[in-house]
Amino acid sequence: MPLVVHVVGTRPNFMKVAPVLRACAARGFEQRLVHTGQHYDPLMSDVFFRDLGLPEPDVHLGVGSGTHAAMTARCMLAFEEALGRLPRPDWVVVPGDVNSTLAAALVAVKAGVRVAHLEAGLRSFDRTMPEELNRVATDHLADLLLTPSADADENLAREGIPAARVARVGNVMIDSLLASLPAARARGVPERLGLTPGRYAVLTLHRPSNVDDPATLDRLLAALARIAERVPVIFPVHPRTRGRLSERAVAPRAAALRLVEPMGYLEFLSLTSRAGLILTDSGGLQEESTALGVPCLTLRENTERPITVAEGTNVVVGTDPERILPEAAAALEGRGKRGRRPELWDGHAAERVAAALLR
Ligand code: UD1
Repeated sequence: MPLVVHVVGTRPNFMKVAPVLRACAARGFEQRLVHTGQHYDPLMSDVFFRDLGLPEPDVHLGVGSGTHAAMTARCMLAFEEALGRLPRPDWVVVPGDVNSTLAAALVAVKAGVRVAHLEAGLRSFDRTMPEELNRVATDHLADLLLTPSADADENLAREGIPAARVARVGNVMIDSLLASLPAARARGVPERLGLTPGRYAVLTLHRPSNVDDPATLDRLLAALARIAERVPVIFPVHPRTRGRLSERAVAPRAAALRLVEPMGYLEFLSLTSRAGLILTDSGGLQEESTALGVPCLTLRENTERPITVAEGTNVVVGTDPERILPEAAAALEGRGKRGRRPELWDGHAAERVAAALLR
């Protein structure tokens, strides 16, 4: 049986790898879990391990925060050493598009270990996004590209990656969502917060392009405050954003929103699953909204997940209040975008990942 090393580093990695670990275990694979430590706050990491039933990592690299170069470099140094100490794996699996993903992929291929990229082939075509650079580089390093949708396969073909290296497996993050939905609903978070199902919005905001520029952040908060005049807007705040909100003179506008601490996986899913509207600049939440059938407004100029627009409930609205407000009104009046769950977002993607690794 193959030995597989999974490398995770950030919040959005955890829900992608959890079902894959389970599917590989069911087939009797030997496995090791490495946590780079890019996300280290208990609310950004530990809660997710608990909620998703992830085992304790076998190796913790403890790289922490820093500039992109510092983080990527620390991750490479520490992972190279860790890989040298582990029994030689048949595969290193790296999920998503964060700095830990690229760092681990580069170390593994240079050590002559095959790399499988989970969630391969997504493109925003926006090279100002650090994640876009991580996606492109990781895809061109990897030996096996595990894609969630046909658009990803097309992107890889256009970049000259042979079809033999690509396996369309579907969306592993949706495996986690579907498996967790009953437990999440049982948490009753909307009820606990005094919210009426369908009559509140959920907001997340953490992209550097949105929160690091004061003018953009101010414009966004002005539009969001207008939405908050109609329905409560619940805003679990990412640590990066928390810093920005207190740093700058945007506090009065933010006061219109219900700021809460980052939530665990089940609590957050409990909240989003009954929302009337989701507003976000996250990648994963665009997909989760589509899977849940909740209208989503993406507060960015582009998306690397166009299938959520073509087939799902997502509308890419950017940061202009003139676009955000009419779309928000439509969703809150029950005229929001409807969609369906894309093909292979069926809760069984991780089983197809395990089968592809074995092949
Ligand atoms: C990272 C990913 C992004 C992903 C996001 C999900 C990259 C390039 N970016 O962005 O794609 O959408 O995770 O959350 O890898 N911080 C803490 N505690 C933590 C982690 C971070 O306080 O546990 C603070 C630090 O001040 C840090 C800042 O947040 O400098 C940003 O963290 P970082 O990991 O650099 O990027 P994210 O914005 O979280």
